[in-house]
Amino acid sequence: MVCINRRLRSDLSSCAARNSEDLAKAIEAEVQARGLDIRVERTVCMGRCDFGPTVRVAPGGAFHLGLAPNDVGDFLNELEVNLNLKKENNKINELPAPGT
Ligand code: FES
Repeated sequence: MVCINRRLRSDLSSCAARNSEDLAKAIEAEVQARGLDIRVERTVCMGRCDFGPTVRVAPGGAFHLGLAPNDVGDFLNELEVNLNLKKENNKINELPAPGT
C-alpha cells in the first residue's frame, strides 16, 4: 500500500507533497518488470504524514517511511527475500504443464 494522500492545508505534511505518486509509479513499474505476484495499491492517509511517503506491506506488515523512487530496487529486493517472492521459490512454477 502506497499513500498518495494530499492534505488540503498546504502547511501540513502529506505523502503526496513528498512525491509519493512518483514513488507509487516506480514501485508499480518495478513490480511489473520483475513479474512479482503482488498488488500495489494506492491508498489514502495511514496516519504517518510527517514521515512519508508511507508504504505498508499488507496485511499487517511494517511501515516503510520516507522511501524515494531510487530506493525501490533495494526495497523490493528486501521484500522478495522476506516474503519469499523469488520465482525460483514459487512451487507453482515447478508443476508440469497441463497435459504433459
Ligand atoms: S498523508 Fe500519507 S500517511 Fe498521511
